[in-house]
Amino acid sequence: MHSLARQRFEIFWSQVAPSYSGQKVAIIGSDRPQNFNCLQNKDLCHFISNVKDNLREAKSLGFVISTILQHYYDIIILELTKSKETNLGLIALAEEYIKDKGQVIINGDNQIGVKSFLKNISSHWPAEKTITKKKGRIAIYKKKKQIFSHWKKYQDFHKNRDGYYTRCDMFSPKEIDKGSKKLTSAFNAKLFGEVADLGAGWGYLSKEALKLNDKITKLTLFESNYSAYLASKKNIDDERAKFRWASLDDIKNLKARFNHVICNPPFHSGRPKDMDLLRSFIFHSTRLITDHGSVWMVFVSGVYLENELKNYFDNIKILYKDNHYFVCQLLKPKTER
Ligand SMILES: C[S@@+](CC[C@H](N)C(=O)[O-])C[C@H]1O[C@@H](n2cnc3c(N)ncnc32)[C@H](O)[C@@H]1O
Repeated sequence: MHSLARQRFEIFWSQVAPSYSGQKVAIIGSDRPQNFNCLQNKDLCHFISNVKDNLREAKSLGFVISTILQHYYDIIILELTKSKETNLGLIALAEEYIKDKGQVIINGDNQIGVKSFLKNISSHWPAEKTITKKKGRIAIYKKKKQIFSHWKKYQDFHKNRDGYYTRCDMFSPKEIDKGSKKLTSAFNAKLFGEVADLGAGWGYLSKEALKLNDKITKLTLFESNYSAYLASKKNIDDERAKFRWASLDDIKNLKARFNHVICNPPFHSGRPKDMDLLRSFIFHSTRLITDHGSVWMVFVSGVYLENELKNYFDNIKILYKDNHYFVCQLLKPKTER
């Protein structure tokens, strides 16, 4: 079953498409390239995203891919994200990169507040046409003089309340995640040699690992979100740190093995819960450690069951547990490596 955003876009596009042949299109905000599969002339459509796997998928569908807008476009399609600040930053960007006489299309689900978002936009910039369908709304706007440039600030990296550079389009931008804090207390003075941080985000775990463990010789941060990867480079100034913009898929054939893997695994891709994503982090961590290596992970209690870890490791040490999190050290991987 196609997503509601896709169904809504297809209905809308079938109504407006005839006047748009051969024009330059950009898609921003979306984590689902397949939502735009109905677009013809994909060689003229740029799919813009921070996320490695989304870009890979967009490319396989025939879109031109990039992490940034770098041309002027006839049409920019913004699919709203769940972060309001990110959406405001993207509107400012769309306004900047739309050609004279160009048009911006905004598509969003009710669940993420499309109604109030469009109301806010339309009070400055009336929509030419709005459709309410499939539990959401889609609207089209004709280029106007710049009115939203004050929202460009949401495209910049700022120091958060804990003193780290972040931006609204990444995990826990406002403050250090509480689960990650529990994990750093557990690995204090226990890490040595070569370490991998899987899903490193803006670099909190790695920065702490380097600070608390002087026996670490090299720490590689793997992160699939480009802006989080950029933020981590700004946050960590240590020669032992190596930064890789890479998703799990990119490292599935990696030959290197590590003494330790540290990880606060994700369990959401976009909005829905994604337990397969979480399991693939556990699986890949088993592959990445040496035979005597260990994996240090934190889980949200109730989301993932300790018992399942027995499928991946022979030795499971629970180091911390409360109503919200449990932290463990995982040894003796079972996976064929
Ligand atoms: C729960 S966050 C943890 C971030 C950071 N380690 C911390 O503790 O604050 C998980 C991270 O995994 C990243 N991620 C999600 N899917 C990924 C994938 N397939 N490959 C690599 N990283 C991924 C997310 O972008 C996010 O930064």
